[in-house]
Amino acid sequence: MTRIVSGVKPTGHLTLGNYLGVLRRWAAADQDRGEALFCVVDLHALTVEHDPARVRRLSRQAATLMLAAGLDPARCTVFLQSHVDEHARLPYLLECVAVDGGMRRMIQYREKSARARAAGQSVRLSLLTYPVLMAADILAYRADEVPVGEDQTQHVELTRELAERFNQRYGRTFVVPRATRPAVAARVMDLRDPLVKMGKSHEATAGIVYLLDEPETVARKARRAVTDSGPGVSYEPGTRPGVAHLLEILSACTGAAPEKLAAAYNGDGALKAAVAEAVVELLRPLRARHAELSADPGYVDAVLREGAARARALARPTVDAAYAAIGLLPPV
Ligand code: AMP
Ligand code: TRP
Repeated sequence: MTRIVSGVKPTGHLTLGNYLGVLRRWAAADQDRGEALFCVVDLHALTVEHDPARVRRLSRQAATLMLAAGLDPARCTVFLQSHVDEHARLPYLLECVAVDGGMRRMIQYREKSARARAAGQSVRLSLLTYPVLMAADILAYRADEVPVGEDQTQHVELTRELAERFNQRYGRTFVVPRATRPAVAARVMDLRDPLVKMGKSHEATAGIVYLLDEPETVARKARRAVTDSGPGVSYEPGTRPGVAHLLEILSACTGAAPEKLAAAYNGDGALKAAVAEAVVELLRPLRARHAELSADPGYVDAVLREGAARARALARPTVDAAYAAIGLLPPV
């Protein structure tokens, strides 16, 4: 059976990018296509300056939103990364097959470390080793598929390299996984800057639609999206990225092709109004379900407890096998 693994970091409130890029298809397809595991990767939230109370709050909120988006504990496993020790046991072994040059080349490391330095903050060593932790998240479960947004492609590529190298040197232990991306909205852009990814931890929030934003806020952000002064509406990602991006969001909401949608609007005001309405309606049931689930924290706790137990049982034999393969004696 196909094994599917993915995760989301509790570093900020989840965004429309998270929903269209991953959450929606985890719920609509991935959880029914095989043995699927989805985790809140809380250990990853410690790679940048963080407030412990906020990470706790956001971890719970992310798990609740995953359930609100339609993940069903009867059909998949939902858990917190830090509840499963294997996620901390495996990375060290993978660090012993990773090389430092490869880690420093990771785009996300280069961007985030530059941002931290510019803000006068030190760069945590864990930011550099983060992709190894992510590789462990995936390899511990012998995942075949990793459904992610476009920005994670390089990390999944590294995961494949580490798996192949480990297998070659120490014997076949890991499955070499592949990334899967959504057909549209693999990279949802910031509404105020169509050249920048909509990211949950960015400081300027006017162009970021958070899943729990009030409908009026969502509509306002969509109506104030940055476009260009070109005539009418046309789908030209290279030259009209703002308009193209709005058409892609609308396409992700409605299922119609961006080119076709372009023909239906004669000005970008009408297009923005349509996007505002479509996104508000897309998120309405999610918000409602989140409110219901938040009123029952005992239920969410129980899901996470059972999820962690299932995940542990799946990961343990693979991590034990990796320990043995690399040359460590089993406990006597
Ligand atoms: P993160 O927000 O970095 O924890 O990402 C969790 C998942 O959502 C990853 O698979 C990302 O690739 C995906 N994702 C995050 N932001 C976006 C975005 N703006 N567009 C599409 N996918 C995204
Ligand atoms: N690094 C991913 C991100 O920033 C999150 C992540 C951590 C992940 N571990 C994972 C995604 C394992 C897929 C599989 O979005």
